[in-house]
Amino acid sequence: MKQQQPRCIWFTGLSGSGKSTLANMLEKRLCERGLHTYLLDGDNLRHGLNRDLGFTEADRVENIRRVAEVAKLMVDAGLIVLASFISPFQAERQMARRLFDVTEFVEVFVDTPLSECERRDVKGLYAKARRGELKNFTGIDSVYERPEHPELVVDTCDHSVEYCVEQIINTLLPADVGQ
Ligand code: ADX
Repeated sequence: MKQQQPRCIWFTGLSGSGKSTLANMLEKRLCERGLHTYLLDGDNLRHGLNRDLGFTEADRVENIRRVAEVAKLMVDAGLIVLASFISPFQAERQMARRLFDVTEFVEVFVDTPLSECERRDVKGLYAKARRGELKNFTGIDSVYERPEHPELVVDTCDHSVEYCVEQIINTLLPADVGQ
């Protein structure tokens, strides 16, 4: 009925790397082409389904587990799901991937260096973490394990958001948008 290939497009990267900005614009582009999407985002899921979770290692593992299961259900329902989470651990990203068929899951690594994320500091959280007011902050006192084999790496330092979104569409979703 939906005339589309359901998928999960998984954005991973540091806080402030640009994951949600890219996911938002990608969603806009896909919607313009008549595709039915849903955006799952760390900042909004943590207000509802995952509001009992914090940022310890165990809580992040549980955060990603729940998100991946929700994404799986949505893909099952026929949607193109955009998931935007730091998802700092390789094992949980693998776990998410394994829930899906091979063609259904694509991982986009938003490879913005810590120095640039910290310079942007859109939410002022890096400054807080540096002052010791925020514990377990990814990149400061909590680890981020770089993806080893993502389907795509995007560079938001050298390229615009528009360019990166086009890159995602051209590389990962050409058939979906009829190219
Ligand atoms: S994840 O590590 O469990 O995947 P998630 O993507 O859901 O994280 O949430 C990250 C967002 O929570 C960040 O963009 C930031 O706004 C906020 N945040 C609050 N505390 C922390 C922290 N200690 N580490 C990282 N992000 C945090």
